[in-house]
Amino acid sequence: DYQLPLAGRTVTISAGGTREPLDPVRFLGNRSSGKQGVALAVAARNAGASVRLLAAHMEVPPPAGVEVVTVETALQLREAALAAAADSDVIIMAAAVADFRPAEISDTKIKKRDDTADPVITLVRNPDILQELVELRDGAQRTQLIVGFAAETGDGQGDVLAYAEAKLRRKGCDLLVVNHVGTDKVFGQDSNSVVILARSGSEPQLASGTKSEVSGAVITRIGFELNHVSP
Ligand code: C5P
Repeated sequence: DYQLPLAGRTVTISAGGTREPLDPVRFLGNRSSGKQGVALAVAARNAGASVRLLAAHMEVPPPAGVEVVTVETALQLREAALAAAADSDVIIMAAAVADFRPAEISDTKIKKRDDTADPVITLVRNPDILQELVELRDGAQRTQLIVGFAAETGDGQGDVLAYAEAKLRRKGCDLLVVNHVGTDKVFGQDSNSVVILARSGSEPQLASGTKSEVSGAVITRIGFELNHVSP
């Protein structure tokens, strides 16, 4: 019998970029468009999964046929991700999560005044959601496939893969989808070129093309891991 590779599976995908407020009108943000996360949601839906999209700020609309949970900050995304983890077979962290947030959020708009010193913004570290999801899963002895994304610039000496391998071990996720980014690459673009690294140690897998094609390859790989590798 023919069955879609993710039939009966619940897949949670985070997408877009978090925004960390400074005051009621300002935030610290990033250039993530949400296109890759949305393309993954489409691919997972088309592969038969029940998809939950944790949507931070996105420049594209969420696709039809998926459940959407809208979030703004890294802390809100963390809450949503930890809650979603309980019933997810797969979690894909494609969102660009701010590593830091302003230590204080002003209740009122920060004013420009000639008689005061230039303001200084103090930042505090955000939790690493991906790492927490792995710890949560392992603590609960759950079977769940956790996928991270990494945008690596390397340092011009071609050791992007070595950095990515180290990140995969550090974070403990099952798959890490690695983008090699330059200044004008990836963010907001429609195409992408990635390497999929697996904790199981199988050979790095290359995928390139539109974000939709790359998503197809990632979702196919996830289906393979669920149906052939995991217990
Ligand atoms: O460490 P780095 O930010 O490069 O890792 C990227 C991966 O970790 C992505 O999957 C991203 O969604 C996730 N991440 C996270 N929480 C953070 C920072 C990144 O889950 N605070």
